[in-house]
Amino acid sequence: MKRMTTLLCAAQVCLATLVNAAPLAITLPPETAVLKPSALPGYPLAQHKCSTCHSADYINFQPPGMSLAQWTGEARKMQQVYGAPISDQEVNIIGAYLAVTYGSAQAGDADVQAVSSPAAPVAKVDDAMALLQGNACLSCHAIDHKVVGPAYHEVAAKYASDPQALAKIMSSIQNGGTGKWGSITMPPFAQLSPDELKTLATFVLHQ
Ligand code: HEC
Ligand code: HEC
Repeated sequence: MKRMTTLLCAAQVCLATLVNAAPLAITLPPETAVLKPSALPGYPLAQHKCSTCHSADYINFQPPGMSLAQWTGEARKMQQVYGAPISDQEVNIIGAYLAVTYGSAQAGDADVQAVSSPAAPVAKVDDAMALLQGNACLSCHAIDHKVVGPAYHEVAAKYASDPQALAKIMSSIQNGGTGKWGSITMPPFAQLSPDELKTLATFVLHQ
């Protein structure tokens, strides 16, 4: 009998320790654990997809100034390493939201807009972005303002009512050229396949 009492007491001490220790583990006030609001489509997406495994503080406590590539890499790591249920396209959309809201990217950046634009054809955006980046198109073009070449928005507007637009733009990208927008020459991209040309031209015409 005596021994049993001792055991019970020991268990109670143990329990009391656990109960006392539990509140100490929570060191953060709950209001920091929300994502910063944004008009970008990645905000509601991140609210849905990034809160199932851990709190938003994992995001809030990353170092400031991370680039679009770094934040997109972070979202991709969640997808690939930890099995977060998000598509490749959602990785890019969430990455853009995080890079603008927590990092060094601007909402008006061409690469942010390209992945976040609701006008862009959904399934093709990933491919188009990879091609735009892989071929340095974005060093001469932006979506919404002239760089060396015309803004893609202007190109889309110019060809909006042209039934031959897709074929013409595919050919312009493949062959390069000059004189349609000014006196600067666009280099040819002869190595692109018809599929790649079509993906790029479709993307441009939707801006
Ligand atoms: C399937 C579960 C899961 C989902 C969903 C998830 N994460 Fe994570 N996340 C983890 C794990 C596991 C860690 C590592 C935890 C640790 O090291 O303590 C982590 C850590 C992090 C970190 C800390 C830095 C690092 O790389 O370890 C950041 C930032 C982060 N997640 C962002 C996100 C974002 C953004 C999303 C939404 C796209 C997301 N997480 C969705 C599981 C998930
Ligand atoms: C070195 C700078 C440069 C690069 C790189 C470049 N462009 Fe251009 N782009 C231009 C210039 C300059 C023009 C305007 C040419 C003209 O006036 O006819 C142009 C025009 C265009 C047009 C309009 C064509 C038309 O028929 O009206 C499209 C579409 C386009 N570029 C897409 C792309 C794509 C896609 C890539 C990457 C595969 C790319 N550009 C890479 C400079 C560039």
